[in-house]
Amino acid sequence: MKQLKDKVAVITGGGSGLGREFALCCARRGMALVLADVDEQGLAETVQQVEASAPGVQAITRRVDVSRLEEVQGLAEFAKSRFGSVHLLFNNAGVGVSGPVWEYTAADWQWVLGVNLLGVAWGIKAFVPIMIAQGEGHVVNTASAAGWMSSAGSAIYSASKSAVVSISETLVLDLKDADANIGVTCLSPAFFATAIANSARNRPAELAETAPDSPLRRKREEMLRYAVEHGRLSAAEIAEMTLQAVEENRFYVFPHRKIKSLIQARAEAAQEEKQAFDPMSAG
Ligand SMILES: NC(=O)c1ccc[n+]([C@@H]2O[C@H](COP(=O)([O-])OP(=O)(O)OC[C@H]3O[C@@H](n4cnc5c(N)ncnc54)[C@H](O)[C@@H]3O)[C@@H](O)[C@H]2O)c1
Repeated sequence: MKQLKDKVAVITGGGSGLGREFALCCARRGMALVLADVDEQGLAETVQQVEASAPGVQAITRRVDVSRLEEVQGLAEFAKSRFGSVHLLFNNAGVGVSGPVWEYTAADWQWVLGVNLLGVAWGIKAFVPIMIAQGEGHVVNTASAAGWMSSAGSAIYSASKSAVVSISETLVLDLKDADANIGVTCLSPAFFATAIANSARNRPAELAETAPDSPLRRKREEMLRYAVEHGRLSAAEIAEMTLQAVEENRFYVFPHRKIKSLIQARAEAAQEEKQAFDPMSAG
């Protein structure tokens, strides 16, 4: 979608981190914004920053839990009733939990898959028909490098992000089948500094049950926190790279160059049919 000015963007997870930076990038391009999150205070802070950096841009907010289809459908109706159309959707809200696979609780699985996987599915279900009907649109799905390779302690997160890669690729094929003029971008960053290591701050009470503290779990949580804090690119840089991919209608976005060589190394390991690929020891 070459021309973004005066178009409408919907951003989930718009109250923090990458979602906030997507909002600022879209606002600077003169887009109207619909920001959704479970964190209403975070949404208000994003709006303040948008107003400061792009005065006059329209930004509205709504509390939405993306794991709930009816709330995402409500978001689509809200956006349409306010702005008449939706051109660019960022399925970006995401959470994570660390630990060995056998220790996760049922609630861990339901929470992370609900937000990261079903949140993307519901976004596509609620918004793509609007885009098809209006004859244009673009969907950005925030996957992760974790969608392409697996690290110890990240089973649920990796499973959810592999699914996002797969859903995104399939979406392109289905849109082609339907002869629809809708672009798709699948964003797969490695670690970058945001509040993702504190995802549990917005975990719903009904899915609060997590595994008791264990040395393995603590080790992986500490590694995640360190990796996120020391990310080589900023959320702002990644958001800008993604907006450029939207403007150039590119599907794959790997902001961290090293990830592509790791994906290749993983493909080679599969080709050899030997040991499971470990990105942490791949150099
Ligand atoms: N930070 C990283 O290192 C990294 C790396 C790869 C991919 N990602 C992905 O980037 C995306 C953005 O995460 P971030 O790093 O900005 O983290 P973040 O925690 O700063 O932002 C995530 C936002 O999602 C919101 N959210 C959580 N549950 C929600 C729900 N049920 N409904 C609606 N909103 C919800 C949170 O309130 C928060 O505002 C996520 O999909 C994440 O998996 C992050």
